[in-house]
Amino acid sequence: MNSRPRLLVTRRMPPNVTNRLQRDYAATLNADDAVFSAAELRTHSHGHDALLVCASEKLDGAAIDGLPASVRVIATFSVGYEHIDVDAAARRGIVVTNTPDVLTDATADVALLCLLGAARRAHEGQSLVRQGRWHGWHTTMLLGTHVSGKTLGIVGMGRIGRAVAQRARGFNMQVHYYNRSRLAPEFELGAVYHERVETLLPLAHFLSLNAPSSPETARLLNAARLAALPDRAIIVNTARGDLVDDDALIAALTSGKVAAAGLDVFRGEPALDPRYRELDNVFLLPHLGSATHETRDLMGFRCLDNLDAFFGDRRCPDALAPVRGEGGR
Ligand code: 8YV
Repeated sequence: MNSRPRLLVTRRMPPNVTNRLQRDYAATLNADDAVFSAAELRTHSHGHDALLVCASEKLDGAAIDGLPASVRVIATFSVGYEHIDVDAAARRGIVVTNTPDVLTDATADVALLCLLGAARRAHEGQSLVRQGRWHGWHTTMLLGTHVSGKTLGIVGMGRIGRAVAQRARGFNMQVHYYNRSRLAPEFELGAVYHERVETLLPLAHFLSLNAPSSPETARLLNAARLAALPDRAIIVNTARGDLVDDDALIAALTSGKVAAAGLDVFRGEPALDPRYRELDNVFLLPHLGSATHETRDLMGFRCLDNLDAFFGDRRCPDALAPVRGEGGR
């Protein structure tokens, strides 16, 4: 690189990432970390060659079309990229990159945290202790759902789905999965493939959503599919809130059809459907999937690796193809 490329960084980055990007780029930082509106993003982008954005920035077709001609590459600090119209970017010759691989383990860990938190009633137990309402042990106190030996259905068997399966095997669970295409045996590792989600549902004592948000996966978990689950099933969502029909899930949690849910992601987050907060059988986390020191550094470095490749006239390792699909991440 001859002169340092001009990079707009839309959100505050972890310190190690900030150090590296300030070393290698003429970076404009967002000191107060406030989320830019589409208009602010357009204004702030002027005079920049590249954007480093997060899932909080909505780059739909209009926002992409409004970007100045100087912007040639957008690196998103996320594996999910439903917030960016990659087709619109491609039409303008803008390369878009994401951060696969580096957050797989952290996100799968949180899926198991949600699974166990929901199954073993962690929220109710925490509340009892913290609110001074725990007055002694008894044999039927806060009984949960046994995990070992049960069947886990995974919707979306990409990197994260497979890492969830790996962990579930450690809990002696049988893994069944739905994916657009069947995995090779070395990835399947004994998991049972379902060509249709409908055949998976009646078997799934636990159901983990690990597919990306897309028009095909929107409200994938609807009333009919919830009804097809075994009674007292447990739902885990660490993917995106859009995959769930909230009215249907809340009805199933209220009726007891679904025993519990562990949710890390929500439609319209952080403004989740307020009814979830009222339900004791929901274990709630504020989108912590990738939130470890190590992972967030690696996500930032992955963005910078892609930008370095772009400005070094090399192929960006995580350049996104314009057409999206339904497979797992
Ligand atoms: C991030 C995520 O926390 O990478 C993703 O797609 O959902 C999370 O890990 C967030 O989106 C960062 O922008």
